[in-house]
Amino acid sequence: MARVETHFLVVGSGIAGLTTALSLAEYGSVIVLTKAREEESNSFHAQGGIAAAIGEDDSPELHRQDTLRTGVNLCNPASVDVLVNTGPRAIQKLADWGTDFDVDGEQWALGKEGSHSVSRILHVNGDATGAGITSNLLRRAMLHSNIQLITHTMVTDLIMHQEVCRGATAVDEQGETVRYFAKQAVILATGGCGQIYQYTTNDPVSTGDGIAMAYRAGAKLSDMEFVQFHPTALAVEQNPMFLISEAVRGEGAFLVNDCGEAFMERYHSWKDLAPRDVVSRAIFQEMEQGRKVYLNAIHLGKRFRNRFPKIYKALCKFGMDPSKDWIPVTPAAHFIMGGIYTDIYGQTTISRLFACGEVACTGVHGANRLASNSLLEGTVFAQRVAEKCIELVELETDFLELNRITLCKNKHKETEWKQTIRQVMWKYAGIVRTEEGLSKGISQLKQLETEIPQGYFECRNMLMIAQVVMELALSRRESRGSHYRSDYPKPQKSLENKHQIIQEE
Ligand code: SIN
Repeated sequence: MARVETHFLVVGSGIAGLTTALSLAEYGSVIVLTKAREEESNSFHAQGGIAAAIGEDDSPELHRQDTLRTGVNLCNPASVDVLVNTGPRAIQKLADWGTDFDVDGEQWALGKEGSHSVSRILHVNGDATGAGITSNLLRRAMLHSNIQLITHTMVTDLIMHQEVCRGATAVDEQGETVRYFAKQAVILATGGCGQIYQYTTNDPVSTGDGIAMAYRAGAKLSDMEFVQFHPTALAVEQNPMFLISEAVRGEGAFLVNDCGEAFMERYHSWKDLAPRDVVSRAIFQEMEQGRKVYLNAIHLGKRFRNRFPKIYKALCKFGMDPSKDWIPVTPAAHFIMGGIYTDIYGQTTISRLFACGEVACTGVHGANRLASNSLLEGTVFAQRVAEKCIELVELETDFLELNRITLCKNKHKETEWKQTIRQVMWKYAGIVRTEEGLSKGISQLKQLETEIPQGYFECRNMLMIAQVVMELALSRRESRGSHYRSDYPKPQKSLENKHQIIQEE
């Protein structure tokens, strides 16, 4: 069984993983592991942009207020302070590392998205912000002599020794078990778990692996009931669903139902730029009443094609012309606010295990994430994680014998189980939840637990995360941000700033 040693082991190749790797590379050897191709991450597909208080009419304080208000009394104010105050510096660092943010004259161009009180969204190539940022980071990482990027390698579990995280076991492209030992720290940056839902904008790699393996190792998880549904995925069934960025509404497009009514006026004074949970629920209600929902961007005319080239191209592929046709849309699972509980340096509750990006719960998003705060969180907290990791003294790693791991390979069965999880989650732990539905969902997932053998790591990870989301959604008897219970439709004062933190017994 192969054994590899490094100073720092990073799992995940999105914005958080790559920022961590680049920030650590001056201080020791870094291995970055990813289970797919290096570009396969939610970061890479991010369209709208990255938020930061850059504009003349803006300030970290305004960004802070927008983030806190959107998070509905559940954000950790200390994390939010870190995010908004460090944001502009982190953007400058991305620019220094080669990201070419779009400009408007001499200044960086700033777009608007839901629940932001001013325009503060930077973007790259119009609507290819994630690709613009991560491809640059990837290029730099690949050129760095201290960084080794290893693809198609599935990390199965963390290596624990005397309650300290010392590395991870993985299965490589050839099916061989490899033990990766980290002399200083292990950093999880594996992203979220949107794939537990039937309809999601998330890349197929987003199966919650990092959250699940940290939980198995004994780390605490927090806020896992809070899943954000993006209001406007293109209503063409596919996995992942194609996203129609919120920035399109930011440029003036608006939602209509099939009677032609701009219905958001009935739901919120900010209309189409209300917080995402409000817009998603409004669409859900329209659909429950038998209506179809569309985005009307016709008046943007040719501007659409220039500002949103990637979306334009995708629409053309489906035979739609946004300057003539309404775009059919539907909500889809997009982001999990919860994750591995960390402090404001990304330290988890396990020694030498760090987490950053969507896999982590720094508390920055509370019950509902402000649009375009996720890429910012990824890069800001990754830099802080690196600051802490380099302080750790090196440990000897020559102590453990581990078993060989075999990944099970019945693709047909695996697809079936995954599909069941995704359907159960969509039906019972989706945009609108009830005690009755969640209880049914929990018992259906329990049944599945007996059917999926060990060795189906991805599938079992998805199941574990799905069960945690369901259980916590059941026990939070209120509605707050993205967690909406029709049997408890109001927020409870007594549950303000109350987090559900869990650890495997
Ligand atoms: C979008 O472009 O609408 C997604 C941005 C985000 O999730 O923050």
